[in-house]
Amino acid sequence: MANILVLHGPNLNLLGTREPEVYGSVTLAEINAQLEAVATARGATLRIVQSNHEGALIDAIHEARDWADGILINPGALTHYSYALRDALAAVNRPAVEVHLSNIHAREPFRHVSVIAGVCVGQVCGFGARSYLLGLEALLALLSDPGRSSQ
Ligand code: DQA
Repeated sequence: MANILVLHGPNLNLLGTREPEVYGSVTLAEINAQLEAVATARGATLRIVQSNHEGALIDAIHEARDWADGILINPGALTHYSYALRDALAAVNRPAVEVHLSNIHAREPFRHVSVIAGVCVGQVCGFGARSYLLGLEALLALLSDPGRSSQ
């Protein structure tokens, strides 16, 4: 049974009303409920954290060392510049999947760079709230793969 830390970064608490033309009208609570439904169906357990503070996200990643098998993360704008978040993910040595609602590669140039992607197994972006579900499915599939390397 996989234990997964789900992290939502800055401003994602405003989903539903935040730039709906970019991020859609789904709320964070609705996304979390959908993730819980997938987790239940797959026999996985989620701990979900949203924070607007870089340090709180880093603390949650550090704590994941004690219990989590993998991390699903939408770092929000921290994606593009937080070396501290990147280093935290690298330090805990748990497989992580980066997700974004929007296709960051099709937006402003500053969003094309992810300093997080290099310490993740993969990235899912551009599918709206479905990016989270696809990312969770990918992470659970990876964790249940008996042949996976010890990441
Ligand atoms: C985002 C993309 C980021 O560039 C942005 O700063 C966000 C949301 C997304 O999910 O599409 O806050 O991570």
